[in-house]
Amino acid sequence: MLVDALNRPIKDLRISVTDRCNFRCSYCMPLDEYDWIHKKEILTFEEISRLATLFVRLGVEKIRLTGGEPLVRQNLDRLVAKLSSIGGLKDLCLTTNGALLAEKVSALKASGLKRVNISVDSLNPEKFRQMTKRGDLSKVLEGIFAAKQHGLHPIKLNAVIEKGLNEDDILSLVEFSRDNGFALRFIEYMDVGNSNDWTSGKLVSKKEIIDKINAQYPLKEVGRAGGSAPSVDYEFIDGRGDVGVIASVTEPFCSSCTRVRLTADGKIVTCLFSGIGHDVKGLLRGGATDEEISKFIVSIWEKRADRYSAERLEALRSANYDPKNHKKIEMISLGG
Ligand code: GTP
Ligand code: 5AD
Ligand code: SF4
Ligand code: SF4
Repeated sequence: MLVDALNRPIKDLRISVTDRCNFRCSYCMPLDEYDWIHKKEILTFEEISRLATLFVRLGVEKIRLTGGEPLVRQNLDRLVAKLSSIGGLKDLCLTTNGALLAEKVSALKASGLKRVNISVDSLNPEKFRQMTKRGDLSKVLEGIFAAKQHGLHPIKLNAVIEKGLNEDDILSLVEFSRDNGFALRFIEYMDVGNSNDWTSGKLVSKKEIIDKINAQYPLKEVGRAGGSAPSVDYEFIDGRGDVGVIASVTEPFCSSCTRVRLTADGKIVTCLFSGIGHDVKGLLRGGATDEEISKFIVSIWEKRADRYSAERLEALRSANYDPKNHKKIEMISLGG
């Protein structure tokens, strides 16, 4: 089994299919000087599928498509069809902002998509627009219900909570999810990218989020799925659903991190907070064999020792952390 320097296997591949997005969430979007990836640098569906097949041979079981916003890439269902035919792949999912989902979900489902995670930080249309800059909540809700109608299951809703902005939305998101059978996960606000001006003061911790929900709707902790998932899950004592928190800041899960990322322009990235990627497009387009490409992937993974969130927690505890000291790849290039 292929494992990294900290004995972590390679299990999940997050593929960013584009760095474009139809929203401009303040916690994600980079400054104006961001250089958008040029069209000719973007991997084709054939290139992505070839790489994905090699990753699966090396141990990857789950593939998630992300962006930017993956649904702004034309004909994404064709990529889904290619990926869903890879033998040995157990899970094929999509993380989306939902705005284009209603019109695309039918083709995606028919092509073999298993499930979707949809970001929705507020159910208040004005607040939603404020947080996403140009998002239309009604389109996103349409997308969420279209996914449900098409039988995608589970439907996970992701909500990033930022101090002073949408803490008030926690309970309404809980009620909405319980009423409709969605799996809701709150996400601690992270210092991804280089320009969201993250400070620990903007963080609403997992503890604060859980205390707030528990006071209204009592909870019982069930832990991390498979013992290693990013989300710590809780069940409602009344039996009506569950909720999770992805606490990358206060309860990092680096020790069990089995995720590798592929950017839209063909860079392999071994941590969400990496400063650099490893270019595999050069090999792909330079005529390398499958064996040569696999060797390249193995050589990257074997050396991997990333544990950024664990190191950040140590630095935060010693009041010695300034995100600006660490240059990172932007979130829109990595898709979370
Ligand atoms: P499931 O397979 O449904 O559990 O999905 P997921 O939670 O792995 O993926 P999703 O795209 O829904 O991500 C939700 C949040 O978790 C995003 O904010 C991601 O950035 C964050 N996240 C996912 N994987 C990692 C990781 O390895 N490290 C950190 N720090 N955050 C992660
Ligand atoms: N902190 C936490 N989560 C974030 N996401 C984007 N930026 C941040 C951030 N700064 C989330 C999106 C989406 C997922 C892929 O990543 O809301 O749900
Ligand atoms: Fe787009 Fe998602 Fe970033 Fe918001 S968080 S700007 S929807 S990629
Ligand atoms: Fe994995 Fe890096 Fe996230 Fe830690 S911070 S869980 S190593 S992606």
